[in-house]
Amino acid sequence: MSSPFLEVAIQAALASGNIQKKYFGRVKNIQFKSKTFLNLVTEVDHQCEKKILKIIQSHFAHHSFWGEESGKKIISQQWIWVVDPLDGTTNYAHSYPFFCTSIALLKDGQPYLGVIYDALRNELFTAETTHGSYLNKKAIHVSTITSIEKSLLCTGFSYNIRDTHYNFENFKNMVLQSQGVRRDGSAALNLAYIAAGRFDGFWERYLQPWDMAAGILLIQEAGGKISDISGKPFNLFHQNIVATNGKIHSKLLRELLKGADEKLWMKRFQNKML
Ligand code: IPD
Ligand code: CA
Ligand code: CA
Repeated sequence: MSSPFLEVAIQAALASGNIQKKYFGRVKNIQFKSKTFLNLVTEVDHQCEKKILKIIQSHFAHHSFWGEESGKKIISQQWIWVVDPLDGTTNYAHSYPFFCTSIALLKDGQPYLGVIYDALRNELFTAETTHGSYLNKKAIHVSTITSIEKSLLCTGFSYNIRDTHYNFENFKNMVLQSQGVRRDGSAALNLAYIAAGRFDGFWERYLQPWDMAAGILLIQEAGGKISDISGKPFNLFHQNIVATNGKIHSKLLRELLKGADEKLWMKRFQNKML
């Protein structure tokens, strides 16, 4: 039996997905969040977030809410909903069918629940801490692949491409060594695919908490492993992730560190945080 938290998260994710389906291929109002033409936002992002916020607040008025588009409404430090209403906005704006809604609930800073919904495929990924991961209510597990040569990997290139350009080195290296490296523009859905055993490894720099919060719980509950790219324990606020089935984790980390000056990246990141 699912908890009342999960039921509300599912209700909100399905409502958001309905909005996404309604406007898919017909989105008109596209704006840019930064000076470059990379970071897009559409009216659908805003509509989905409003709907999710309304549903969550109507059930848990005493919880905090942190949405990508509307920011933080901190009421409780213990319970915080972290929401990416539409992950894969660039895909959505171009009618490319790969995007999702990602909803996580943090308890004392740790993911307690995660829901990722791919509305076009009607795939609902859910996890609650210590209760396992599910796709449309069926238990899912990470893959059993043990070598990079047999693995299908995935990465992303963030909007801050100038700060993460050495991902091209990583990308080239891993394309040459694996069965393929996908780059399909929805980090949250990519993480759900690791949990479901469709990808064996994923990495990206410059992700935000709302991109990762639900996905990391799905992966942990499906038996996978997460860390940061330098191999240190994962931190939701450190903006980078390596997520795998566990079996290729150390091998992938070793390869990623070959092309990248991770110390330099961490230094830049820390300077930005000061
Ligand atoms: C983006 C997607 C993309 C990733 C970017 C994210 P958004 O989120 O997850 O795959 O490469 O770094 O910002 O803007 O579509 O919600
Ligand atoms: Ca996102
Ligand atoms: Ca988004």
